[in-house]
Parts: sequence; structure tokens; C-alpha cells
Amino acid sequence: MMEDVADVIAALEADATADAAAQVISLATTYFETTRRGEGPVSSGRSPNEITARFDGPMPEDGTDLATIVARIERDILADANRLAHPMYMGHQVSFPLSTAVWTDAVISALNQSVAVEEMSPTLTQLEHRVIRWMCDAVGFPAGSGGTLTSGGTEATFTALLAARAAALPDSWMHGVTEPRPVVLCGEHTHYAVTRAVAELGLGMRSSIAIPSVNYRMDVAALEREVARLRERQIPIMAIVATAGHTATGSFDDIDAIGALCEAEGIWLHIDGAHGATAVLSDRHRHRVRGIERARSIAWDPHKMMLLPLPAGMLLVRSERELQAAFAQRAPYLFHGSDDATRVRDQGVRSFQCSRRADVLKLWVVLQRLGRRGIALLHDHLCDLAMQVREELAQHSEFEILHAPDSNILCFRYVGDRRADDETLDAINREIRERYNKSGAGWITATLLGGRRVLRVTMMNPRSTRAHIRALVGGLLGVAADVVGARQPA
Ligand SMILES: Cc1ncc(COP(=O)(O)O)c(C=O)c1O
Repeated sequence: MMEDVADVIAALEADATADAAAQVISLATTYFETTRRGEGPVSSGRSPNEITARFDGPMPEDGTDLATIVARIERDILADANRLAHPMYMGHQVSFPLSTAVWTDAVISALNQSVAVEEMSPTLTQLEHRVIRWMCDAVGFPAGSGGTLTSGGTEATFTALLAARAAALPDSWMHGVTEPRPVVLCGEHTHYAVTRAVAELGLGMRSSIAIPSVNYRMDVAALEREVARLRERQIPIMAIVATAGHTATGSFDDIDAIGALCEAEGIWLHIDGAHGATAVLSDRHRHRVRGIERARSIAWDPHKMMLLPLPAGMLLVRSERELQAAFAQRAPYLFHGSDDATRVRDQGVRSFQCSRRADVLKLWVVLQRLGRRGIALLHDHLCDLAMQVREELAQHSEFEILHAPDSNILCFRYVGDRRADDETLDAINREIRERYNKSGAGWITATLLGGRRVLRVTMMNPRSTRAHIRALVGGLLGVAADVVGARQPA
């Protein structure tokens, strides 16, 4: 019972010990130990209602001992969590996080320094500047470039387009968006973060223009035609957004060609490289982002292909001054008592959040532990795994493979004997995924491509092997046989 503050302080002190820490951390170590070898189900398949029921009840009036809480987390959270560390997890673009980064998370929280303000985080703000410099060098940005860590690709893209808005409409910070309203061009398969940002920035969703794709890549000829059409009508173009690693298929737009167009036309190029920008670190895959240095801004999520735990996003900009202009226009540095914006070390002048976690520390630790080469090998391995999925699926005519994997993502569709119509196949594919995931044998995703429901794997776990991939294909075929069988007239 917490009767007076001395009881509370006693609890705080008890929880600060290595013993207490070991109790909590053991949840994570046990999870890794029991999952990474592929034992047990990937997910429990328990219904949302059952899960909700266990959290019912009023806010606790009194405190509970730590051991009871740890036991509850184990029983009520871990038991029904999706086990991303399991090699049969081939689901969303969320990492099975590198353990070094997981342990570092505790240090980040323990220190609790807000990197937005240098005096609050004297070491970690400097570290963020250093890591951003490394990443700018990796993409080929010049001196004067910069950036910030973000909560993810969504925030990075929002911030980038805010900077593009400041460049296109310097008075918009004070007066809002004025006519003629500029437009943003992006691919039809662009992540919703882009169109959402366009709406959030006060341009209106209708100011985002979708350029069609060819083979899941932005059609550059169609983009050129659209730019010419807009120029003729004197409609200003605020930015073109190209994608490095499309969410659905992992494919890469032709950044070099789009970058050349942007340079010729004086248009801000933002690259949504949330998924695919890590290819710059890879000797084997770097060609996929050829021309990336032509961008004015790049979103890059280490919490995707660099296998960091959430959150770890990043925005890089060719000109740090343009990023500062995003948030306070011409004089952000006034608030910091300096006339020279480049001397302001506070990252708060360049980023959306006020209090911000020092996620840079886990990124730095992973770079120290594995180096650029280690990260690249990991990245390439995940891409190779998607190739292996393709090879295994290709052995079975019941599947149609929808694209060659450019990265670690592959979409395919169960087509059986190819006699069912598209609507029926949509329903069959939906049911295959639902049943397969519910079985606990594995976990995959689905998406719509060309209006059709397709199956999708994202190979995020370096512990998945060809044997696991064969188990995936066998598992899907088994489920498909049941689904199709249940549809046959008795
Ligand atoms: C291409 C792309 N852009 C942006 C995002 C959004 O990133 P986040 O979820 O980190 O905000 C994603 C997420 O899957 C993505 O795949």
C-alpha cells in the first residue's frame, strides 16, 4: 500500500536496482531466447475481444509489487504479441530489432535527454549532428547539408514538405497558403504519408497529383508531361516526391531521371526513402538509388532496413538552412540569440517535436557494433531472402509472382488452376492470409495491386532461412487447398 510519499520513494529506490532491472529485462531476453530459434507460434490468433477483456477494470488506486507486474506483462502482453523475432514472421516493415539497440533503449530512457535543446543533452545533441553528418556523406550531400532524427518516415516527409513549402511560399508561415496554390507530384503508389502531408500543410489533398506507374515505378515520361502541362497553365509545383522502396512492392523510382528533371525545372525533389534509402550503404544495391544526391530532402527510416527498434526515423536535407526555414522562416535563430543560424546547435530549430528522445544513441551503437559493412551485409541478406521466396514460389504454378523483388518485399497471388475469376481469387487470397496468420505457423501481409488483393511478404528477419521459406510456401499451399476445398459444392 502506498500510504505516504515515503512508501512511493521506497518503491522508486527499489526499482532502480540491478535486480529490478534484471526482472524487467528478462522479459525481453526470454522473448528473444524462446522465439529466435523458431519455436512456438508466431502469433496466438486470440480474438480482440478476449484480449480487450483482460485489460478491463478501473485505474489502479494502489501500487503493485514489480514481480506481479512483470508476471502480468508476460501473461497478458507477451503471450499474445506478434513475435517478430520468429523466423516465420514475414509481415510488415517493422524490424525484428537488433538486440544491442534494444538494450541501448533503456540507457536512452534512463538518461532522458531531450536532443531538441543542446543544453539539455550536451553529448547526445552533438552525437546527433555527427550521425547526421555520416548519413549526409553516405548519400553524397555536400557541406552545409544536415537533418534531424524523426519519429519515422511520416514525420520526415511532413517536415521535408514543410521546408519545400517555405521555399515555394516564404510567407506561408505567417499568412498561410495563398493563391495560386502549388501542387505536389508523386507516384500513384506513394505512401499515404505524402498525401497526408500535403493536406496537413494546408494545400488540400487535391493539390497532390498522382503520376501513374509502369512496373510499380513512377512513369517518368508521364511525369515530364504533367510538369509541362502545369508549366503551361502556370500552376506552381512545390515538390516532386520520388520513392526509394515503395511500400507495397519495394520497387525504386528512377531517381536519377527524376532528379535530372527537377534540376532542369528548379523543382524541390523529396525522396521518400523510408524503406529503401539504406541501399546507399550497400555495394550491391546502391545502384537502385543512383542520383539520390540530387534530392533536396530525403526521408530514411533506420527502423526499417537498419533493424532498429521503433522509433528511429531520419530526415536529411541538402541545405540545413532550408530545414531551419521550415519551422520559423527567415529568423529561427533569433530565439537562440545568434545571428548565424549555422551556429545554432539546438536541433529544435530543425525538427517537429519539442521534447525528443535521443534515439540517435541506438543508431550510433548499432553503427559502432556492425559498421557500415555489417549493416550492408544484413540489408543485402534480407533482399536475398525475398529472391529465395520468389524462387520457391516459382516451383508452384498455383502462384503468380507479381514483380521481381528490388529489395526485401515480394507480392504474389494464389491463382490455383487459373480458372477462378478475379473477384473469387480476391476472396480466396484474403481468406488464405487470414487462416495462415491465425494458424500461428507464420505471418504475412496483403495489399492491393491494380485493384486486386495479393499476398505480400517483407523479409525483415535475418534468421529466416530457405527452410523457413519452404515452410511458408508449403503452409500457404495447405491453407489454400482447405480454402478452395471449402468452396466446392458438396
Ligand atoms: C515508403 C514509405 N514511406 C513512409 C512510410 C511511413 O513511415 P513511418 O511508419 O516510419 O512513419 C512507410 C512505412 O511503411 C513507407 O513504407
